[in-house]
Amino acid sequence: MARLIAQETIDEILATCDLVQLVSEYIALPKHSGSNYYGLCPFHQEKTPSFAVSNERKRYHCFGCREGGDAISFIMHMERLEFTEACEFLAKKLGLELRYKGGKVDYKKEVKARQKLLHLEAARFFYRYLHSPEGTPALNYLLKQRGLSMSTLKRYGVGASPPEHRRLSDYLLSKSFSEEEILAAGLARSGTRGLNDLFRGRVIFPVFDIKGSIIAFGGRVLGDNLPKYVNSPETDIFKKGKELYAFNFAKQSREPRVILCEGYLDVLALSEAGFDNVTAGLGTAFTLEQAKLLLRLRKEIVLCYDSDRAGQKAALSALEILEANGAEVYVCRLPKGLDPDDYIKSHGQERFKALLDKALAGLDFKLALAREAQIKADGSLDLLAYSEAACKLIAEYPNAVQQEIYAARLAKEINVSAAAVQKQIKAAEEASKKARAKDYRPQQRLEQVPQPGEISRAEEIILSALVFGQLNSEDIEVAFNQEIYQSPASRQFIQRLADELTSSDESDEDSVENFSEALRELNSAQLLYRAEDIKIADTNLAQFLSALEADDFRSLNLENSLNSEATAELNNLSTELMRNKRKNLARAAIVSDDKAERDAKLRQLQANDLAKLSREQRLKQSESQKDYFS
Ligand code: UTP
Ligand code: MN
Repeated sequence: MARLIAQETIDEILATCDLVQLVSEYIALPKHSGSNYYGLCPFHQEKTPSFAVSNERKRYHCFGCREGGDAISFIMHMERLEFTEACEFLAKKLGLELRYKGGKVDYKKEVKARQKLLHLEAARFFYRYLHSPEGTPALNYLLKQRGLSMSTLKRYGVGASPPEHRRLSDYLLSKSFSEEEILAAGLARSGTRGLNDLFRGRVIFPVFDIKGSIIAFGGRVLGDNLPKYVNSPETDIFKKGKELYAFNFAKQSREPRVILCEGYLDVLALSEAGFDNVTAGLGTAFTLEQAKLLLRLRKEIVLCYDSDRAGQKAALSALEILEANGAEVYVCRLPKGLDPDDYIKSHGQERFKALLDKALAGLDFKLALAREAQIKADGSLDLLAYSEAACKLIAEYPNAVQQEIYAARLAKEINVSAAAVQKQIKAAEEASKKARAKDYRPQQRLEQVPQPGEISRAEEIILSALVFGQLNSEDIEVAFNQEIYQSPASRQFIQRLADELTSSDESDEDSVENFSEALRELNSAQLLYRAEDIKIADTNLAQFLSALEADDFRSLNLENSLNSEATAELNNLSTELMRNKRKNLARAAIVSDDKAERDAKLRQLQANDLAKLSREQRLKQSESQKDYFS
């Protein structure tokens, strides 16, 4: 479990924080009337201010996009932090003592804080060295050979390390860091004659964490010597697979998409060319955790990897991880032998922008790779192998319309009938279904009647969809009807959620609109800390909550989107509920001797049918409005 912030601390943060002042550190709030301040909404594009902040109510609300919340949710949005991190951020800013639930003390916290301080000192040392007379060769390399400007170097804190074997270590010792601390930071190793600096004679790129603290360094040689890069090892404060280079800058961008590339210098070159929405991995394969971090920022991601074989393979693997987590991914393909940095240098930023706009959709990229893999030695295309691979890829995307479009395109390309291609896609689909059925755990799906205290799969799907904001407001209305749930745990969860939502909402109407709006304001981390108070000895609930905490609903192994599965389950459960109610009413109508009572029951029965009918009609409507590419 992530560490949960104590309620007193949350209350204290919200009570102490001057919301108007906090917000105005991010956006201007030029207008005010009474105690309300107005500015341009940071959550959507607008020309006239509809973003209102009230210190009195300690809330903000945008009348344009209906985003609203408190100081904590504001920081979560603006700094792309999770709930706990946002509380930590604010507590530090407000000088409040931070208390966690259960009163656990973080012994490592002090150590980590010292390590960050040490890295900051080291970065200052490298930066000053770059701009000292001794740093001239490194500075020339960056400015002349790499075409970077002084302002970019400054923004990214680029520095350089001297060639001697322990200049940095001596500097850090003089700043009262201990030998152990320097070794623990990985900035030096201990040799026979004492400390040896890790970075020598290189240009240095500081690696920032999401909040902008320096947690590691990468160092590149000035020429072609090997190894090209030396990087900080993993430490208490640096886990390569969890960080993204320059994410702290990219998160401030207002661009709708984020660009992911491979290296430090790609990020710098793109930044130089005016792209501020760029981030990169740290020389390791793209990880699930990096995907989640990226998805906190944007759903739409453009991969911009080297055009060589290794780069394309890495792009494919990143693409798969990102798509599996709900991203909309595009892949920018560069001419042979170039990375983004090279391309901008040789073709200019306008042409690079055009290339970005032409980035391929995920499936198109996979098809292009599949095609290239089937080019025979004589340069011709192995049609059979290609069409088989292509159909398999197309079959991976369950959207029928999309499949038809791609089938038609493929048919034209390999000059066969669309029907033949469609047949092959269906066959591929069947084959993968069978393969999936093999490693399918039956207990996950077959158990229809939950044991007391267990959450059924259907309920799990509905609650997940609710928490992940995947339900439309009509479904939310149904999902909040406790009657549809069999399990007491689900009912309790829903009850708690409803309590929280109504109590945090100032308006006294508890309409569905308010519910869904309030739900949108929450994120799973917040829900969790609220849900944590539900004390039920229930392993399913615990699992369910930890999946929520990991922001991961893939453990549900859904075949279709969470939204459509949840809608289907809601429909089943409410039909079931309706059927039972009907049965009871019918029984009551039959057994009653009193004619008036019988009529009343019958009218109720009819009303019930009407309610059911209107729900089915609504479902049909939402079915037809479904976004086919979601
Ligand atoms: P590249 O080789 O593409 O480096 O590696 P680059 O940053 O574009 O540098 P130039 O343009 O060749 O000068 C991409 C990333 O992989 C990691 C670094 O993070 C680098 O930015 N890498 C590469 C290493 O960690 N070690 C290496 O030896 C090479
Ligand atoms: Mn490069």
